[in-house]
Amino acid sequence: MKAVETEGLSKIYTGGNKAVDNISFCLEQGEVFGFLGPNGAGKTTTIKLLNGMLAPSGGSCRVFDIDPAQNPEKLHQMSGVITEHAQMYDHLSGMDNLIFYGTLFGRNKADCEKRATALLERLDLADAKQRKLSAYSTGMRQRLSLARAMMHSPKILFLDEPTSGLDPESAQNVNTLIQELASDGTTIFLCTHQLRYAQEICTTYGLMNQGNLFATGNIEKLRSMVSDKVKVRVKASCIPEDMECEKIGEHTYDISVNSEEEIPLLVRRIVGAGGDLYQVSAEQLSLEEIYFSLIDKNHAETECGNL
Ligand SMILES: Nc1ncnc2c1ncn2[C@@H]1O[C@H](COP(=O)(O)OP(=O)(O)O)[C@@H](O)[C@H]1O
Ligand SMILES: [Mg+2]
Repeated sequence: MKAVETEGLSKIYTGGNKAVDNISFCLEQGEVFGFLGPNGAGKTTTIKLLNGMLAPSGGSCRVFDIDPAQNPEKLHQMSGVITEHAQMYDHLSGMDNLIFYGTLFGRNKADCEKRATALLERLDLADAKQRKLSAYSTGMRQRLSLARAMMHSPKILFLDEPTSGLDPESAQNVNTLIQELASDGTTIFLCTHQLRYAQEICTTYGLMNQGNLFATGNIEKLRSMVSDKVKVRVKASCIPEDMECEKIGEHTYDISVNSEEEIPLLVRRIVGAGGDLYQVSAEQLSLEEIYFSLIDKNHAETECGNL
């Protein structure tokens, strides 16, 4: 069974705004899916569709074979979600909020208290557990909403910008937690703008722009959509005059080759021309570079299409 499956999924808001436009994809269980795209791309709308908070205008979606719009209660037993505006109670303490939401899932109070204590500890909120939510900072609220989403040990977690508003240390903490959940088999559907973190934790990606899902796959697949060349960074006293390169700094050059097999030849050419070599490394495009390249390409294509 797939964790998520969509077929031609679309959402047109009242007023005609096509926020999600005919997207089809599958997500296997246990994956950490990085759902990326600029503001307004349709990411939050997709999460809402997958959680039954919105009904599709067209197409269909299933989460663990459940239709979210038809059967939201059943879905919520196995999914956890944090969206931008997670609702919790300001007049209740952090602990009582978690117990309240835990009991909504049919768990008994003692179990909820045990799980809440462990989660509060894990998210550095143990000292604040008896404090009312109204006295929590934004970052503390964010972490509490993550704890809330995990109270019933969901099989899939939808996280919409879980680290926005967090300081780097808390963000790192949340990312480590996401990784731990994933290694225990929880499927993670993650929207984030923090591409460096995403690259550390995601196993597969979907790139959205203006409602279109225009690229999916693991990082190698996305990388090959940008370029099939390998960039080699070379630090050398000099390189042959006729060698095509981009000068990065004094004695540092980026040279593009067709494959790793061409690297020894490149080294022999430099040494043969009398160059002393200090460093040779094949540079892989980072997720950040891939993202901007593919988004720019998609913008250019959609603008062409609109002309
Ligand atoms: N309730 C709504 N009514 C009308 N338009 C909306 C509503 N929510 C979002 N939109 C629009 O839908 C598009 C996608 O929004 P959203 O899913 O929030 O994108 P993202 O999460 O990628 O930033 C945007 O153009 C946004 O303005
Ligand atoms: Mg959003």
